[in-house]
Amino acid sequence: MFSFFKPNQTTQTPQGKVIALMNQKGGVGKTTMAFNLAHAFAHQGKKVLCLDMDPQANFTSLFDVEASDYHIHHLLINSVKELKALHTSVLLQDVLVKTEQEEGVQIDLLPAGQELSGFELTVAGINGARQLILKKFIEKYELRSQYDVIVIDGPPTLGLLVVNILCATDGVLYPFVPDRFSEQGLKNIQQVVSDIAEMEITSTPKNLGYIPNLFDIRRKQASSDLTHIKETLGEATVYEAFTNKVQFGKSLAQRKSVFQFKSTEYKDLQRQFVQMTETVNKELHS
Ligand SMILES: Nc1ncnc2c1ncn2[C@@H]1O[C@H](COP(=O)(O)OP(=O)(O)OP(=O)(O)O)[C@@H](O)[C@H]1O
Ligand SMILES: [Mg+2]
Repeated sequence: MFSFFKPNQTTQTPQGKVIALMNQKGGVGKTTMAFNLAHAFAHQGKKVLCLDMDPQANFTSLFDVEASDYHIHHLLINSVKELKALHTSVLLQDVLVKTEQEEGVQIDLLPAGQELSGFELTVAGINGARQLILKKFIEKYELRSQYDVIVIDGPPTLGLLVVNILCATDGVLYPFVPDRFSEQGLKNIQQVVSDIAEMEITSTPKNLGYIPNLFDIRRKQASSDLTHIKETLGEATVYEAFTNKVQFGKSLAQRKSVFQFKSTEYKDLQRQFVQMTETVNKELHS
């Protein structure tokens, strides 16, 4: 049974960090990275909550969780007083799924579902800050005091769902496929971050770095494309590139992370994700 505790004012409860995997472009590895990164943190003994903010609910299905009638969308709507007419009786503990990924490795999940695609329309008419619904939801349930890391998987869009994620996170990781089409997608989402900074309604999420994914080493132009893109990305961290790895296909088909395989062919990917957690921790605390 899930229990909520009030944070004790006198003890120094570590404040959990919220991170999101974002890119307006589809199929760049947001969900793959979010899933494996969450496992990397959980393997280090961190209490991890995964939050699926994509109506496609791919993150949810990787945890082998069936689409259910109630999910994150209903909790978000319930948290908006102005939308009282649309409230349902569903509670956080009804939606939160506690998963045991392997012995001793637990990850909690707030699943998504199709209704989330109607989120923008549903909240369009409210007078309150439409951009801060997710942030306030995380505060209302004191999720930061219950988890060390909250990993959000974002949708391949640029609307109000994305704005809500960006306003709720401490930092953002940007997976991208390093080809000549990637630059615009990254620029677009950076523009949304700048817009949020200008609005001054909340703190701006930190850029935790770019993750080149599906890097095609056989393509002649691949290295020069990546070098060119790196030059345009400025100061931010650029992680070691992920090449096209059959191990991702194999593991995800079994709804497993790369950490759930002992064979040596997974060691390199495990190392890459462990290094990513270290850099993310450093960036979040710098
Ligand atoms: N490095 C990789 N090697 C091989 N396959 C990969 C790699 N990265 C991602 N994939 C595969 O590519 C597909 C798309 O990845 P993923 O779903 O993570 O992208 P996404 O950015 O979340 O997409 P969407 O925007 O639609 O949510 C998946 O089938 C995934 O298994
Ligand atoms: Mg995805």
